[in-house]
Amino acid sequence: MNGTLFYNARIYTPLMGRKPAAGAEQGKIAKYENGALYAEDGIIKAVGREEDVRAFLAGLDAADVEEHDCGGACMIPGFVDPHTHICFAARREQEFVMRLEGKSYLEILGAGGGILSSVNAVKAATEDELLDATRENVLSALNFGTTTMEVKSGYGLNTEEELKMLRVIGRLADETPLDIVPTFMGAHAVPPEYKSDPDGYVELVVNEMLPAVKEQGIARACDVFCETGVFTVEQSRRILNAARELGLALRIHADEVDDTGGAALAAELGTLSAEHLLAASPDNLANMASAGVIANVLPATAYSLRKPYADARRMIGLSVPVALASDCNPGSCFCESMPFVFGLAVMNMGMSVNEALTGCTLNAAWSVGLAERVGSLEPGKQADFLLLDGESPAVLAYHAGVSPVMEVYKKGVYVA
Ligand code: NIG
Ligand code: FE
Repeated sequence: MNGTLFYNARIYTPLMGRKPAAGAEQGKIAKYENGALYAEDGIIKAVGREEDVRAFLAGLDAADVEEHDCGGACMIPGFVDPHTHICFAARREQEFVMRLEGKSYLEILGAGGGILSSVNAVKAATEDELLDATRENVLSALNFGTTTMEVKSGYGLNTEEELKMLRVIGRLADETPLDIVPTFMGAHAVPPEYKSDPDGYVELVVNEMLPAVKEQGIARACDVFCETGVFTVEQSRRILNAARELGLALRIHADEVDDTGGAALAAELGTLSAEHLLAASPDNLANMASAGVIANVLPATAYSLRKPYADARRMIGLSVPVALASDCNPGSCFCESMPFVFGLAVMNMGMSVNEALTGCTLNAAWSVGLAERVGSLEPGKQADFLLLDGESPAVLAYHAGVSPVMEVYKKGVYVA
């Protein structure tokens, strides 16, 4: 037995229900002022008031329990970031400057920049170079408290390069402490060679890429960028239905820039999540709630694109479960910091601290299909947790511009 007791902590955690936390449930957080967590071999065995956890330990043969004084720090579950494009080979700072000067994101994409410039960079990089570039940002995210992360492909846009990205994502899952969940996103943009035949590209995704991804077993989900000038609702439906037949979970970038019907499609197909939703209509949000679709909202993208934030208050009012994600990518949002995302959600989206905490942890864990293992501090789950330099999770919004994450533990082990 390899047990560690973490005591003298102020513990805040959402508690697992049968489904993602929606409506008033999203704001419910368990709190143990004088708390402790006991883990064996990376798995939580007991958590709660310190006296209760010590009583639990007294009933065990606790001879070789290591004790760790948390010094009164606030303990929360490790962040789960359920939406990233963090696998990329080069930054796009010049494009950011162009946007500051007034060019729009879709204009830059339409002129062959944006996602397409990242596609060229991935193509030019060897697999090991892509691995090195990605590792740097993934480990930075770990320092900011992300212990589980979804990562999408989508800067390949042909079978060979998409598979290269997914192999890199898989290698990072093996060599870093994080749990990494790979998503295939071949339908991230229409590559230039298919500019006059986008349906031909959709057929390539359906008939060649998806079967190859399935055969190699290197993705758990499939995502599509359903947007003006990118993929239509019909094309997105075609791809997602094909992915469903292969047993992949479904996600959709929906109504990020324009309301093109992406959220409606998410509700129609009952996708696991719908992403962005800045421009989604209230009716479509209500349909998402009925279909149980999780809203992955990405406030750092709204910040970076200078757009109005997604209407999280309305989503919570309609009982759409809300998860928060970084969207880390080299274009619309170069941000791997979940504390920053948390701060934006509380300060600019009107989410309460408790709602934001559920959004960054348990609902995000549901969104990546790992809620049985991560996302809350409860017996049977992995001991993935953070110690914050503050009294409560409010410090994540209160102490702005820095990371209050002092220590990061993955499966009970200090990792950052
Ligand atoms: O989620 N919307 C599409 N994809 C990313 C941006 C990717 C990029 O610009 O490289 C997003 O914002
Ligand atoms: Fe995205």
